[in-house]
Amino acid sequence: MGVRIAGKKDVPEGGCIAVDTPDGRAVALFNVAGQIYALDNTCPHAGGPLGEGYLEDKTVTCPWHGWSFDVTTGECQNNPDAAAQCLKTTVQGEDVLID
Ligand code: FES
Repeated sequence: MGVRIAGKKDVPEGGCIAVDTPDGRAVALFNVAGQIYALDNTCPHAGGPLGEGYLEDKTVTCPWHGWSFDVTTGECQNNPDAAAQCLKTTVQGEDVLID
């Protein structure tokens, strides 16, 4: 059973947002062709907000220094040792839940 962190319609298709969980964790949500993915919002490079980055297809570019991450796996295209943490979400009706 997850905790609601956003409405599905809050995350526009092809876009991303940053939200906080009720216990204060910052999460980046991405909508890739109607599918919602979540990463820890804190960029592994220097802490930039990935949910305020630029999403193209399934790749988000960090707004601070331009590192790119696959939002479906967290894999970093600039540094294989610096993957972003993937978080598991479920969409239930209009709600996005996080585990
Ligand atoms: S903080 Fe994200 S690329 Fe530097």
